[in-house]
Parts: sequence; structure tokens; C-alpha cells
Amino acid sequence: MSVTNVTESALRRKQGAKWNYYPPDILPAWVADMDFNVAEPIREALSRQISDSGFGYPLGAKDSGLLSLFQSRVKKRFNWDIDESEVLILNDVVQGLYLGISVFSDKNEGVVIQTPIYPPFLHAVSELSRLPLLQPLIATHEQFEIDFDKIESAIDSSTKVFALCNPHNPTGRAFNLEELTKIGEICCRHNLIIISDEIHADLVYEPKQHIPIASISPEIRARTVTLMSASKAFNIAGLCMAFAHFGSNALKKKFESIPSHVRGGTNALSVAAVRSAWTSCDSWLNDIRAILFNNRNLVSQFILEKQPKVGYFPPEATYLAWLDLRKLEPKPSYQSYIMDTAKVAVSAGEDFGDQGRGFIRVNFATSPEILERVLAQVGSALDLIS
Ligand SMILES: Cc1ncc(COP(=O)(O)O)c(C=O)c1O
Repeated sequence: MSVTNVTESALRRKQGAKWNYYPPDILPAWVADMDFNVAEPIREALSRQISDSGFGYPLGAKDSGLLSLFQSRVKKRFNWDIDESEVLILNDVVQGLYLGISVFSDKNEGVVIQTPIYPPFLHAVSELSRLPLLQPLIATHEQFEIDFDKIESAIDSSTKVFALCNPHNPTGRAFNLEELTKIGEICCRHNLIIISDEIHADLVYEPKQHIPIASISPEIRARTVTLMSASKAFNIAGLCMAFAHFGSNALKKKFESIPSHVRGGTNALSVAAVRSAWTSCDSWLNDIRAILFNNRNLVSQFILEKQPKVGYFPPEATYLAWLDLRKLEPKPSYQSYIMDTAKVAVSAGEDFGDQGRGFIRVNFATSPEILERVLAQVGSALDLIS
């Protein structure tokens, strides 16, 4: 089955949030799932598990072989040397973010976040009663950039954690070595723990490359918890599994003060799917990356040719386009306006923090045909307010 051979009726049958949350006359381009069929080896592994009624307790993290698979995976993909003993399996990446912030800071202590930001970063900090140190990424004429001086001056002795999102959702930045080194150095100078959400690591477009911040130096590694997962790149987020790498024994020990039943871990289907993803699905991933690259170009072409007032930097990573509509007629919510007028569900910029007001996020991980429809419908709505 071809990965892009997806029809609207098949997508609506899937029962997931993306195609079922909104009424059937709405085209969904919101939550970060891809519309592509998962790789055949993953389907086969899961089918086998189902036909064998393989729903008993799975082997744990180490015995399942997944930790050593993670070790070899990050070496192969990012040339990052780690040891499996430094890794824990969690239910998902957002859980890791919440647990990491809980363990490495106390109430009313500060957490640095680069806004606009994937909403759970904001929720984690406020729900856990930490102080958000919101550090805007600055749009220059060609990219979103980091104001390092501003970050450094915002940090004080009550700041404990830098919650990094790299690649960054929603701007699509894949931070480069110089930027990551500067972030790491700031964290070393101020004794901050870095919790680095690298879930989109496999979806960085050439010529950019993913750099795990913990791979930069022993000093940065020793204060970094890296969260990764097969879920975004292999489109299996609903199966729930994430990997947390701890750059020092002390960090891991502290994290393990959370009882293992609270941390969660493997489940029968995710073990099968992740093992298959990381052993048998790289050619599928290459195909998907090529499709996403082309889709990204379709979005760029659409903006350039049809919506010159819309601000847009093609993402260096992720399948999410972050569109700045602030030069158009103002609307209380562009997301609602586009839903009502274009019948397309996009993500509301304001959900990514105040700095996202006036923006929308469009998920372009779908077939080129559906993407063309999304763009045409959104384009007609934007034409009315241009
Ligand atoms: C940056 C980022 N982190 C985490 C997640 C969610 O990860 P999980 O489902 O493993 O909690 C997403 C999903 O879109 C994301 O974009």
C-alpha cells in the first residue's frame, strides 16, 4: 500500500482525534499526526501481536532490547554516543516534560521556555506552579532567532530548568551548533538543568541536521535530560512510548525518585511497533521525509505566489507551517475565522502563548491532493481579509 494513497473516507474511519474531533465538513490540518499509512513492517508486527493475542504484560525496558536499540539508533542517526544504562522508558514525551520539571525544580522556581511554544510546555509550567520565563524567538528577515542576552538577563537564582524544544514546535527551527552551544553555556553558567524535547529529531530537512544538545560537550550533557520517541517520525503517537536519556547518574537517580509505576513504561503494542520502526523502517522514513519536503515546498509556493502578505519561514524541521497573518485584517481568532470560512481546522496561534497571537499552525503531513485542498480553502478565506 502506498504511503500517500490515503483517501478522505479512509482517514475519517480511523477514529483518531485528527479526523474525528471536528464535524465531517471540516478538513483537519491541526494536531501533529501524519495522514500517511504507517510502514508495512510496523503493521505486520502489530498484526502479528494481535493475531497471537499478545496482550499480556510485555518485557520491561531492558529485557525488551529497546534500550540498546535506542543506544544504537541515536549513534546511527545523530552520531551520539550513549549507554543504554543511561536511559529510561516513559509513556510519552509530555509526561517526561512534566516529570522532569517536577523533579528538577520546586514550586515558584523558574523555567525558561522559548515562545511561541508547543502548548504543553506552558501547561506544564503553570499546572506545576513554576514560574515561566518566556523568551520570545525573534523573527528576523530570514528566520526565528534567539536573543541570548535577554535570556541571560531574565535568569536569576530561582531559575532551575531550561525547557528546550529542539527541533522547535511551532517555528520549525532546528537549532544549529552555535545556538545550542550558547544555550548550553548559559545553562552551565547558571546551573540550570536542560530538559530537551527532541521528538521531531528524525524530521529535520537537509542541509540542516539534528544535533542532540547533550552531544555537544560533557559539561552540557551532565545537566541534560533528552526526551525522544519514535512516535512523530513513524506516526505512532497513539501507541505511547518515549525515551529519556540522562546525561549523568545524579540526574537519573533523582528522576528515579519518582516510583516506576508513576513513570510508566512499555506496553505490548508499543514494544512491537517501536522495535519494528527502529529496525526495519528507515526506507519508509526516507520516503516520508521526501514527501514532507515536497509538501513543505507546496506551502512555500502557495505563500509566495498567492499570499504575499502572510509571513512564513519554511520550517527546517517538522511538518508544521507557522503562518503569520498579522498583516491581514484583524480577527479575534484566525483559527475560528478559518474554520468557519474555509472549513479547515488549523491550530490557533494564541494557544502557543501570547506571542503566537495572529498566527496559525498548519499541519502539512498529508497527501499532496488533500494539502492542495487545504491550501486552496485557506487561501480563499485569507483572500477575503487581505
Ligand atoms: C514538541 C513536541 N513534544 C511532544 C509532543 C507529544 O509527544 P508525546 O505524544 O510523546 O507526549 C509533540 C506532539 O506534537 C510535540 O510536537
